[in-house]
Amino acid sequence: MPVYWKVFLINGTVLGAATLSLVLAPVSVSRQVVVSEVLVLTIGLGIMLLANALVLRTSLAPVDRVIREMRAEQDASNARALAAQEAERHRIAQELHDEVGQNLTVVLLGLKQLERRAPADLAAELALLREATRDGLDDVRRVARQLRPGVLEDLGLTSALASLTNDFAEHSGASVRRVVAPGLPPLTSEAELVVYRVAQEALTNAARHAAAHDVTLSLTRAGDRVVLEVTDDGHGFDTTRDGAGLRGMRERATLVAGDLTLRSASHGTTVRLAVPVAPA
Ligand SMILES: Nc1ncnc2c1ncn2[C@@H]1O[C@H](COP(=O)(O)OP(=O)(O)OP(=O)(O)O)[C@@H](O)[C@H]1O
Ligand SMILES: [Mg+2]
Repeated sequence: MPVYWKVFLINGTVLGAATLSLVLAPVSVSRQVVVSEVLVLTIGLGIMLLANALVLRTSLAPVDRVIREMRAEQDASNARALAAQEAERHRIAQELHDEVGQNLTVVLLGLKQLERRAPADLAAELALLREATRDGLDDVRRVARQLRPGVLEDLGLTSALASLTNDFAEHSGASVRRVVAPGLPPLTSEAELVVYRVAQEALTNAARHAAAHDVTLSLTRAGDRVVLEVTDDGHGFDTTRDGAGLRGMRERATLVAGDLTLRSASHGTTVRLAVPVAPA
């Protein structure tokens, strides 16, 4: 039976019983209500509420259990979705490293040998090609590293974020300030991963689109939440235009019951992610 009808029937039965007892009970209420009558009415109301609460509690217990089970199932399926995303990134990272990386290395070694044997007028051009290939190889390795945050598993969130901001400062030309509040409460590994990925995308966006000079990444506590904020002083953008990166951030935040907010104006952008701390 639907919950609505169950509650309706229970309330109907209790109210019916109360009305019947009023009809049958040898009591009456005077026009000028006296204290003893108010007392009788109050006790009657109390008994009725108690009976209602007891019957509701036992009848709705299975509904509570189903809701708890559904929540647990939802959590488990969110965790599975995150794990699947990570597994896919892991696979792509491996392929980049093993296939593209190896092939570029072969090209690099070949170019080195050619350079040694080539006539002087070709050597300079070959050196340029070799440099370009080395840059390509560095890029592939960097992307593969970003796809697989081994550093998160090895060193924990704070060090992983430190490495992310250092990498960002090296490649973007903007200066980065990192503020991590001491004694932050622990997060689940899923929430840590989401914080890391959102920080990664926010920094990448600041580097690619914002033309920022200063970027600040902070990790602080606000009540029972840990808050990541990435702020840049770039030119800002229209936040109603979502790309795959911003959508990915939002989806990931939802998977760990987090809130993602974007604020952007002509003086810069702030990405804010609040995730719940791990249950004790
Ligand atoms: N910090 C920022 N400053 C200025 N513009 C931004 C910033 N972040 C995002 N944008 C704008 O919002 C757009 C959407 O960003 P989003 O990350 O979703 O996609 P993308 O970075 O273009 O591509 P990708 O899928 O590789 O992330 C960007 O193309 C850019 O115009
Ligand atoms: Mg992006």
